[in-house]
Amino acid sequence: MTTRKPLASISATARFLPDNVLTNADLERMVDTSDAWIRERTGILERRIAPPEMGVVEMGKRAAQRALKKAGLTPDDVDVLIVTTATPDRLLPATACEIQAAIGASRGCYAYDLQAACTGFLYALSAAEGHIAAGQAETVLLVATEKMSVITNWEDRSSCILFGDGAGAVVVQPSRNGEGMLSSHHSSNGDLAPLLIRRAGGGALPLTPERLHNQEHMMEMSGPEIFKAAVKSMAGAGRKVMKDAGVTADDIDILVPHQANIRIIESTARYARIPMDRVFVNLQHYGNISSATIPVGLDEAIEGGRIGPGSVVLMTAFGAGLTWGATLVRW
Ligand code: ACO
Repeated sequence: MTTRKPLASISATARFLPDNVLTNADLERMVDTSDAWIRERTGILERRIAPPEMGVVEMGKRAAQRALKKAGLTPDDVDVLIVTTATPDRLLPATACEIQAAIGASRGCYAYDLQAACTGFLYALSAAEGHIAAGQAETVLLVATEKMSVITNWEDRSSCILFGDGAGAVVVQPSRNGEGMLSSHHSSNGDLAPLLIRRAGGGALPLTPERLHNQEHMMEMSGPEIFKAAVKSMAGAGRKVMKDAGVTADDIDILVPHQANIRIIESTARYARIPMDRVFVNLQHYGNISSATIPVGLDEAIEGGRIGPGSVVLMTAFGAGLTWGATLVRW
């Protein structure tokens, strides 16, 4: 394995999932679907839905506090706070500033949002690495927090079965003993923006009673087109970061992919030549939590003993934009 010296590493992970569970049986009562169809076509059995009073700030706050505690840090230690979300509680100010206030992070820290839909976490990891490499930060807190239930059209059976709510957080710090990010590769293609879009609610199409009635402010998705693009882009990015770092699929201890659909995960793993027993999957419990799927997955994989010191971890993601990317880490 010939890899460059890592500059930054993930020193703690944490997650927060709301308690309320929405099962496939519940969805059968809401739209024309069946548990069998959802299981077979997506692999999802249930997802978490946050209550009305719990937004992304509250979920993100809880994940952030847990991550800082695990890292043995206080909110005062945070130099940069990056939040990824496609579902902010408010459009202004940045969710990151709200979470900064909620956790009582240092007033010297700077906080901003990064929007790359489901790929947000991997984009933000690279941003965190950049802050550390540039000497701007010793501690970056990265919070991925999503309330997909508020942008889901609950009358559209082809998309409402897929998504859930939750948050993950990680602490990124300078690499000390050769652990950390070995290589990353991210891309986007705005020509494919219409494949997953919320048309109304911004400056282009302000909300009107008619647009609200027509659910134009909710997610619209071309599922099969996204499916094809997702497999190709995640597998391609995964292969590129392995090549750049001089590692092969045999060196990968675990692939933690974005959790959108079990068939997308299986195809990506096949193209990347990584057997499924080395792939982390939790989408049966949570569905697609957008940018939070990977940090939640990392936290569960660590807790389950599947990631430990020295593990070589490949992460891949894709999302609206379209955006996609991969990051390779030695734990
Ligand atoms: N229950 C029953 N039948 C359904 C359902 C449902 N929930 N949804 C669709 N169908 C029907 C369709 O109407 C269609 O029927 P028809 O043949 O009579 O027209 C049939 O099932 C097949 O529909 P497809 O859309 O071709 O089904 P597909 O196998 O592609 O599965 C799915 C659809 C699950 C959406 C899949 O395409 C997918 O997972 N795509 C990726 C979506 C995704 O990951 N989006 C998130 C991107 S990340 C982000 O940024 C948020």
